[in-house]
Amino acid sequence: MRTTVGIIGAGPAGLLLARLLHNAGIDSVVLESHDREYVEHRQRAGILEQGTVDVLRAAGAAERLDREGLRHDGIELRYARTRHRVDFPALTGGRSVTVYAQTEVCKDLIALQLADGGPLLFDTEALAVEDADGPSPRVRFRRDGVEETLECAYVVGCDGFWGVARRAIPDGRTFERTYPYSWLGILADVPPSHDELVYARHDRGFALLSMRSPAVSRLYLQVPAGTDADSWTDDEIWAELDRRLETDDDWTLQRGPITQKSVTPMRSYVHEPMRHGRLFLAGDAAHIVPPTGAKGLNLAVGDVVTLARALTHERDTGSPALLDTYSADCLRRVWQAERFSYDMTSTLHRAPDADPFEDRLQLARLERIAGSRAAGAELAEGYTGFPY
Ligand code: APR
Ligand code: PHB
Repeated sequence: MRTTVGIIGAGPAGLLLARLLHNAGIDSVVLESHDREYVEHRQRAGILEQGTVDVLRAAGAAERLDREGLRHDGIELRYARTRHRVDFPALTGGRSVTVYAQTEVCKDLIALQLADGGPLLFDTEALAVEDADGPSPRVRFRRDGVEETLECAYVVGCDGFWGVARRAIPDGRTFERTYPYSWLGILADVPPSHDELVYARHDRGFALLSMRSPAVSRLYLQVPAGTDADSWTDDEIWAELDRRLETDDDWTLQRGPITQKSVTPMRSYVHEPMRHGRLFLAGDAAHIVPPTGAKGLNLAVGDVVTLARALTHERDTGSPALLDTYSADCLRRVWQAERFSYDMTSTLHRAPDADPFEDRLQLARLERIAGSRAAGAELAEGYTGFPY
């Protein structure tokens, strides 16, 4: 098997890259180890920056997003039983975000790719990237129990944190933080109790109210790292959400049947560089952010837009200049998102060893965001997205 760009992984990064390349007239093959059902139902954050929406629209992948996506002009910060709204357009010169689940982004991109007959192979596991720094790199993969090879001009590892592509970079350097807490997330069949996302800092730990649609709520609780989702009963989850989200006014949390429960570990991670010879990394394969800033998907989109542009530039001009700066170009944006996600995480979560001094500092930070236009704008600019 032979193609121009061999893409490992059909998450948002791999799927969007295949779409952008198809639109530019560059052929690719996507190899995905899981089945289509799995990829289309994996729950992840679904906050799209304006730049991400613009990219999906320009790629012809936003028809349903434009119909069903919910524009959000702010978030609520909740602390010390008070509520403070961060008004994005007012603080950023008009920017906002769109709530549209990542599962739906993947479904839309998969449907487009398959409709064009683009090679998208599910149940196909990449085993290794070979000759990454030679003129014709290869991906060794297994499909139906048989090992085969995909010969490529370029290989792109869009295979997430646990993938195989990164291992083919011999002299990489990694930067990492793990956090002593995780998120217990639920999906519930109940309309969201607030029309915008609520990020709550509480002495018992962080809580987040989010949504998937006008009928489905998505909620999270900070729990100790290593928590088993089934160790929490539904009643215990609702009672803890009530405590952490409670306010001095008459706001109440609506309950409904919980349809899904899972625990997400929290990590910050960057691998440098994001390129070795003709192998490129994009998305979670190269970097992880904790979910607090909802940056993961948006960063992946930034990477593949940068890469598609660089590959198109080389095809059109013969110049590898943009491929040569791919890693550095992406990493500048990645580190801004790492910083933003780390700061937002540290401001809102309660570390197990937190002392009253740190509690007071967290509250002072939140009061600063609420009371200063400059501090509010810093949060709003980071949340709505750093420009490409
Ligand atoms: N062979 C083939 N496919 C693989 C292999 C492999 N060896 N290893 C991993 N994969 C697939 C996974 O099954 C997954 O579908 O690669 C895909 C990686 O997708 P994501 O983990 O979603 O990563 P990415 O596309 O970079 O996502 C970027 O979206 O899904 C979120 O948390 C993610 O926020 C991040 C953003
Ligand atoms: C979600 O809806 O799953 C979500 C929203 C915002 C976040 C993280 C997750 O910061």
